[in-house]
Parts: sequence; C-alpha cells; structure tokens
Amino acid sequence: MADSAPGDGQGEGSLVVRICYELFGSPLNLALLAICGFLIYKIIASRRPTGPTIAKEPELPPLKKQDFTLEQLREYDGKGSDGRVLIAVNGKVFDVTRGKRFYGPGGPYGLFAGHDASRALATFSLGEDALKSEYDDLSDLNSLQMESVREWEMQFQEKYVYVGKLLKPGEQPTEYSDTEDEEKTDTEKKAE
Ligand code: HEM
Repeated sequence: MADSAPGDGQGEGSLVVRICYELFGSPLNLALLAICGFLIYKIIASRRPTGPTIAKEPELPPLKKQDFTLEQLREYDGKGSDGRVLIAVNGKVFDVTRGKRFYGPGGPYGLFAGHDASRALATFSLGEDALKSEYDDLSDLNSLQMESVREWEMQFQEKYVYVGKLLKPGEQPTEYSDTEDEEKTDTEKKAE
C-alpha cells in the first residue's frame, strides 16, 4: 500500500514542511521572525536576575499631577538620577517607571522613554521614524490605527499612573489643585 493513511504521521509531516516554507521561504518573513526572536530574548533577559542578590529598587514618590511639553517629557527617559520614565500615549502622559524592564535603558521598548509613543504603537513600529521630533497630531493615521492607539491608551491607563496631558504647541498647562493630586494617590493605592 503506497498511499498514506490519515493519522500515520505523513500528513502532519507535510503540514510542518509547508509551515516551514511559509515561515522561512521569504526574506521578509525571516526578518519578522528575527525581530520577534530579538524582542522575546530582550523581554526574557530583562526578567532574569543579574546578580547573586537582587536588590529591589525603592519605589519613587508619585509625581505631582502636571502637563508636559515634548521637551519636558524628554527629560524623563530613565537616564536621569532618579531613573523615572514617562511616556505619552494619545495625548496622555503616564509614569511607566514600574515597567522599567520594558522602557528603561536597554529595554525592548526603551526608545519610547521620554517620548510620545502613539504613532509607534499605532503602526506597530519600533523604528526611530515613528517618533517625531515635533508635536505629532496623528492626523494622517487611519481609523484602525487610531483605534489601536486608543486601545493602547486604555492598557496604559489600567497599568500605569496618569500624570497629565501632553501639551500641543502653544497650549497652556492646566493648574491642578492639590485635591486632584490626592485623588491620584488614591487611584495609585487601588492599583497596588
Ligand atoms: C514582533 C514581535 C513582538 C513580540 C514577540 C513581542 C512580545 C511581547 C511580549 C511577550 C510582551 C509581554 C511582556 C510581559 O508582559 O512580560 C510584550 C509587551 C509589549 N509590547 Fe511587544 N512584542 C513584539 C512587537 C512589539 C512592537 C512592534 C511594539 C510597539 C510598536 C510592541 C510594544 C509592546 C508594549 C508597549 C508592550 C507592553 C509593555 C508593558 O506592559 O508596559 N511590541 N511584547
């Protein structure tokens, strides 16, 4: 009997071969696989303890609620003396210091630190060109990309502390009252 019966292993074998052809058959797929592998490696490496004793970094005190210009945001790239990291998504600035293994220096998403990450997240791009040096109004993004930015914003809202707005050029910062600060601290307590 020359024909292979279903379930004798040959059917599955050729499926595996077809998948391998799909994955490794084109340079674009190979490049995407390499990027995925690199990001997974970076994320796993950032989880691994590096020394015999793991000293837990003390948590930073919460930032006072405030709005930021792009220039002010850039100061919080994780390389400052306190290591604080801020990121803007869809016009909102979040303190992502507790996610430093992602956004800190050397982390897989370290290029977002101190920047507006909206375009990069919307277009699923880790290239420098997705981070504009000028204020980015995102007006050229399509509806799917805008939906994706809003979803990322919700994820950040759930996981990190909202600090204030990212100011458009010429926009005046809001004067936040101390009560708003206390409210923020309560929210943080809930998140802990
Ligand atoms: C191409 C392959 C990619 C792989 C395999 C990958 C893998 C992952 C994994 C496993 C996590 C979860 C890590 C954890 O919770 O421990 C993660 C989180 C994340 N990824 Fe990726 N990623 C990829 C591409 C990208 C790209 C292109 C972007 C942005 C443009 C991106 C942005 C993010 C962000 C913002 C987080 C959330 C970090 C947080 O919780 O604050 N990823 N990724």
